[in-house]
Amino acid sequence: MIKTAREQELLGAIDPGKIPFHVAIIMDGNGRWAVEKGLSRHEGHRQGVETVRETVKNSSELGIKVLTLFAFSTENWKRPATEVSYLMSLPEKYFKSELPELMRNNVQVRLIGDREKLPRKVQKAVEEGSEKTKNNSGMILNFALNYGSRAEILMAVNRLINDTRDGKIKGGINEKTFSQYLYTSALPDPDLLIRTSGEMRISNFLLWQLAYSELWFTDVYWPDFSKVHLLEAVFDYQRRKRRFGKIQDSER
Ligand code: IPE
Ligand code: IPE
Ligand code: MG
Repeated sequence: MIKTAREQELLGAIDPGKIPFHVAIIMDGNGRWAVEKGLSRHEGHRQGVETVRETVKNSSELGIKVLTLFAFSTENWKRPATEVSYLMSLPEKYFKSELPELMRNNVQVRLIGDREKLPRKVQKAVEEGSEKTKNNSGMILNFALNYGSRAEILMAVNRLINDTRDGKIKGGINEKTFSQYLYTSALPDPDLLIRTSGEMRISNFLLWQLAYSELWFTDVYWPDFSKVHLLEAVFDYQRRKRRFGKIQDSER
């Protein structure tokens, strides 16, 4: 594919030694993208899957180690049944066509969210995707499906209560212990959060884990999010000063 001038420029300017380890994306704006083009919302979601394919490839090539994609929230069940049902048909299609490519790119698929309440066919598709890619050692592709951060926190609290009752936890609960009870237990917190479509909110996504993430927003709708936008986000990220509450030597 031909690289645009801006893409070339960004590729030259990005420091390969400082790629964010974990990038999380709120993939928003499929519906508006479609409606503005006179298409059905389904078309927006279909195109959104194409952007997922591209973004997975681009992220893995760039050296991102964990990519978490918000695909369906616990609140998205409130949408019309036809839209929910269309969205629930996508994981199966995605894995069917994408597995060979995921294998070629050494990508390991995982899922975060309440899988029990997902239709059986979705559970099966994601479980197969995870199972077949579990020995891949490249980028972790973490799909957030039926994910809600408040529900996740409550799940962790309830499990903690049970384990405390069973005597499995001695002493108090610290941040590290708490993190281990979340769906993301095995993963470091996101370094960079991207949200598309111009909305400036978190929408119940990774509330605990985003405590110190760098946030990057763009007006671009998810179906139009391309490599150049990913590079812009990473380039911007590399120019941020992450203080974690401290001050840097140069600021003393
Ligand atoms: C994101 O696009 C996909 C999901 C939330 C499932 P939307 O469907 O939210 O698109 P808009 O925000 O209505 O444009
Ligand atoms: C957030 O998008 C959820 C996903 C991207 C899956 P929404 O479109 O559901 O968010 P709100 O409703 O605008 O906050
Ligand atoms: Mg939306």
